[in-house]
This record gives sequence, structure tokens and C-alpha cells, in this order.
Amino acid sequence: MATEKTFSIIKPNAVKDNNIGNILAIFEKNGLRIAAARFTTLSKEKAEGFYIEHKDRPFFGELVEFMTSAPVLLLCLEGESAVTKNREIMGATNPADAAEGTIRKLYAASVGENAVHGSDSAASAERELSYFFEKNEISDRF
Ligand code: CMP
Repeated sequence: MATEKTFSIIKPNAVKDNNIGNILAIFEKNGLRIAAARFTTLSKEKAEGFYIEHKDRPFFGELVEFMTSAPVLLLCLEGESAVTKNREIMGATNPADAAEGTIRKLYAASVGENAVHGSDSAASAERELSYFFEKNEISDRF
């Protein structure tokens, strides 16, 4: 198994609920390292660009409004099979379907306010990381 990188966002509801530390602890306990982090509030343009593949979905406006409603923590996570591992740790998109102990089961409020985002493939991870981070902001020195 190879070490790889994935992209994650701790979303506004989890930030407002004071769960940043709890979520980072779950990543770390599961062998994922924080290779980059930025605490920021997304602009409407940045959020729309990030979710552009969903622009024709009925929930697009609501999604962008939510993602710009409060700060987020942007993360690069690194570890063995990081993309797959992060998706397991997060749980299903809809918290009603998420397994016990997953981040979304613990901290999501609804399918929209679902606490975290995580890349769904290695290709998405590369695209999403480069959308938010410069190469020199991501550590390679572990
Ligand atoms: P995320 O992994 O960030 O990628 C796309 C997001 O769209 C997803 O998490 C959800 O938060 C959101 N989403 C998906 N389906 C719905 C829905 N039916 N209503 C509102 N938001 C949704």
C-alpha cells in the first residue's frame, strides 16, 4: 500500500459546534497526518468553483450558502491509502446512512451540513488539493 494524500474540509457546522479538535483527533488516531491546514472563510466564487460539478443540482445554492456561512478548515491528509481511509472514517454523505463511530454519524446535522468533505478518488484529491493549496504549503517531510 502506498502513502498518498487526500483533501478534506471541516465544514461550517462542525466549526461552529466546536468539533475541529475532535475531528482532527479521529484523523490522527486512524493514521492520517495533517500535511497542510488553512483556516479560512470561503468566498462565494471559491465555493462555487469547488462544487462546480454540482451546479445543476437543486441543492447547489443551498450548498454554496452553507459553505460560505462560517469558517472552514482546509486540510491535506497524508497516510497509507489516505483517500479510501478518509472516506471510511467520514462515513456516508447522508448521516442517516453513516456507520457508527464515523465522523458524519458523530457530527453531521444533515446531508447538507455533513461536517466534512473528503476527496472521492486520487484524481479528485490532486485536483482539489491544487484548487486550495500551493505545492510549497504541503509538507513532505514526515
Ligand atoms: P460533499 O462531500 O462536500 O460533496 C458535495 C456535497 O453536496 C455533499 O458533501 C453534501 O454536503 C451536499 N449534498 C449532497 N446531496 C445533498 C442534498 N440532497 N441536499 C443538500 N446538500 C446535499
